[in-house]
Order: sequence, then C-alpha cells, then structure tokens
Amino acid sequence: MNITGKKILVGVTGSIAAYKTILLVRLLVKTGAEVKVIMTPSASSFASPLVFETLSKNPVLHEIADGSQWSNHVMLGRWADIFLIAPASCNSISKMAAGICDNLLMAVYLSATSKILLAPAMDEDMWHHPTTKRNIETLRSFGNIVLPTNNGELASGLFGEGRMAEPEEIISFLENFFTTKSKKLIGMKALITAGPTYEAIDPVRFIGNHSSGKMGIEIAKAMAEAGAETTLILGPSSILVPTVINTIRVTSALEMYNIAINLFPNSDLAVMAAAVADYRPASISEEKIKKGNDENLNIELVKNPDILKSCGAMKKAGQVLMGFALETNNEKDNAIKKLYEKNADFIVLNSLRDLQSGFGTDTNKVTVFGKDGFETSLSLQQKSQVAQQLVEILTAKLLTQE
Ligand code: PMT
Repeated sequence: MNITGKKILVGVTGSIAAYKTILLVRLLVKTGAEVKVIMTPSASSFASPLVFETLSKNPVLHEIADGSQWSNHVMLGRWADIFLIAPASCNSISKMAAGICDNLLMAVYLSATSKILLAPAMDEDMWHHPTTKRNIETLRSFGNIVLPTNNGELASGLFGEGRMAEPEEIISFLENFFTTKSKKLIGMKALITAGPTYEAIDPVRFIGNHSSGKMGIEIAKAMAEAGAETTLILGPSSILVPTVINTIRVTSALEMYNIAINLFPNSDLAVMAAAVADYRPASISEEKIKKGNDENLNIELVKNPDILKSCGAMKKAGQVLMGFALETNNEKDNAIKKLYEKNADFIVLNSLRDLQSGFGTDTNKVTVFGKDGFETSLSLQQKSQVAQQLVEILTAKLLTQE
C-alpha cells in the first residue's frame, strides 16, 4: 500500500458528511498511515473529536490557542505529506479562496507546504452556485486538488450533486496520488553532480571549497525515489550515499567534466549542484612544495572547463538541465545571466547572504528561475525537502515539453 507510512493531516469542517470522515480515518490508520485530525469549531457539532482522537491515536486540534497552549499551525502544515480536507464545506471553501484565517484549520491551510486535497460536501444548489464554482476554480489555480462530488441523496432529502466522495474513493485517490507522485520518473535517466572539487597543487595541498555534497546528494535521492535511474558524480565528500544511486567518486573538476560530458547525452534530466573550481593550478608539483626564503609564492592557474555550460551546448530537445548559482551580490541578475549563458532550463539561486543556507547546512533557501520567466522562491527548509521540490519542477517540465 502506497499510503503506508504516509503522514496524512485530515481537516474536518462543519458538514453532515463528517460522519464519513470517521470511516475514512479508520481506513487510513488501518492501511498504516499516520493520521492527525484538525477540526473547525463547527465540525464538532457533526462528529465528536473524541471519536477522531480514538481512531487516529492522536489528539484532535481545533483551537489556535487553548488556554496556555498554542497549536503550532506552521509545523502541522509542514508535517503532512498531504493535507486532506474532508468534508470541505461551502463556507470553508469560500474562506480558503479568500484567505480568511479565523480558525486553526484555516491557519494550517494558509501555511501548509504539503499538497492540499479537498473533498467538498454541500447541497446541490450551493455546489452549483457561481460563487462556489468561482471559489473552486480559485483553489485549483492555487494548485489544490479538488475531488469531484457524487450524485445521490443529500442531507436536505433532495437528490443531486454535492455528496462528498466515499471514503473508499478517497483512499483509492490517495493510493494513486502517492504512486504517481513517487514514481513519475520510471524509465528516465538522471545525472547529478555534487560536492566540491579539489584541484591539486602538490601531493599534499589542493584548492577546494566548503561544499559538503549534501544538496546534490539529496537531489540524487529524490530522483531515485521518483523512479529515475540515477547517477551521481560526487566530489570529495564524507556523506554516505544510498547504494540505489550509481555513485562515481571524483576529485578534480577535470575528472568530473570528463565523466559528465560522457554521460549527459544519455540523460533525460541533469542537475549540476557541484561547486566546481573555476581554475586549477597550471601544473601539479610532483613533490611537496618546500617553504622558500621568498615572502610570496605564486601559483599559476588555468581555467577549468565549465561542465554545466558544456552540457547546455550539447542539450537536445527532450532533455532538461538545471544548474545552481552560488552568489554573494546582485544575486538575481547573476543567476539569470548564468541561466542564459549556460543554456540551462533552470537555475537555482543560492545566496550566501541567507542564513542556514548554502555550504554544509542541513537546510537551504533557494529561488528557481526558468527561461520562460518561471520564478519560484522556496522557503528555508531541509535540503531533502528542497530536493523534492526541485525534482517536481524538473518532472513537470520533462513531462510537459514537446
Ligand atoms: O554541498 P552543500 O554543502 O550541500 O552546498 C550546496 C551548494 C551551496 C554547493 C549548492 O547548493 C550550490 O549552490 N552549488 C553551486 C555552486 C557553484 O559553484 O555555483 P557557481 O555559481 O560557481 O556555478 C554555477 C553553475 O555552474 C553550477 O551549477 C556549477 O555546478 C556549474 N559549474 C561551475 C563551474 C564549472 N567549471 N563547471 C560547472 O559545471
């Protein structure tokens, strides 16, 4: 079951269909999902929080602040793999579309970073009302998924559209969602560069940088999780890489370049996250360079080939190429310049001015630029989460281009 182990946040709003959500929560827990439930104040008139608490084995939250306790709505929205609002009442849908934050569920909705799935439930006339239609379209434009309603007997006693999807239908949607979400890249080949490069000066010294390899390794992991056959060209890094990733360890920029240009023509997706040295010593001393009497020592440097640019020059229709840009000033302009000069499809800007971002950290804050004016800023989060979002951006491009 693809739902097993998934973190599902269930939001219950005020609708008679809340009785179905009781069965839904029970089924989700039975399939091995971790479930937390939050309710709007009016939802508890339709279903008891105690029932949800017992079934989900987690406390049910409904207040932003409860006496001395404050519910961390931001962390809840980040905890979930998916935020399922079922039933989504007409009233809650209109608040979501308008961004009204007057209860815990709305606060979680507005700060959620996970995918949001709605199972609307209401009377047929409300469902067909132009404002509801407009609100549903607005929510879809935000990237929320809205499940269709069923035709049948409604709480009013009338028959028609507006019945919430059945729990089994929602479970089946989630199964499919987690399958396609996780395995969209089956049959695709991904190439990633990561880590620093070391440019030898003599047998004991080198020119290097502070890259740990974390960011690129997380991207390789996310690619492999999405089903891609993944090759990682990794500069000197002490981080362990899962064996499912075909890892080629290199030391210098030239080694990384030779392997990358060889593998790139056969790759569907490539992400150049390595911090490659732009220059290397013109010659490597065979012996350790001894300290002389001179106060200065000059080392002549020659330019390394640019791996990203070389791949960009070779890029064929159907291939998607992403680079990084590590900047300290004029960040956006420099990043966009690199995007065009290197013929990438996307460039991921890492600013050294952002705290907890860039070299060696577990977290990162980046902005992604695409050639067609695409621009999206990802908030500070774990590098693993950044990686997943980058893979989603690449996948969307790969699957939609002609
Ligand atoms: O490894 P971590 O500690 O997790 O840190 C992650 C990171 C900060 C290294 C990573 O997120 C990052 O920003 N990588 C790119 C660093 C960099 O070298 O940026 P740049 O602006 O100098 O290079 C631009 C692009 O050209 C990059 O995609 C780079 O891989 C590529 N390049 C650069 C020089 C060269 N000779 N060949 C290249 O392919």
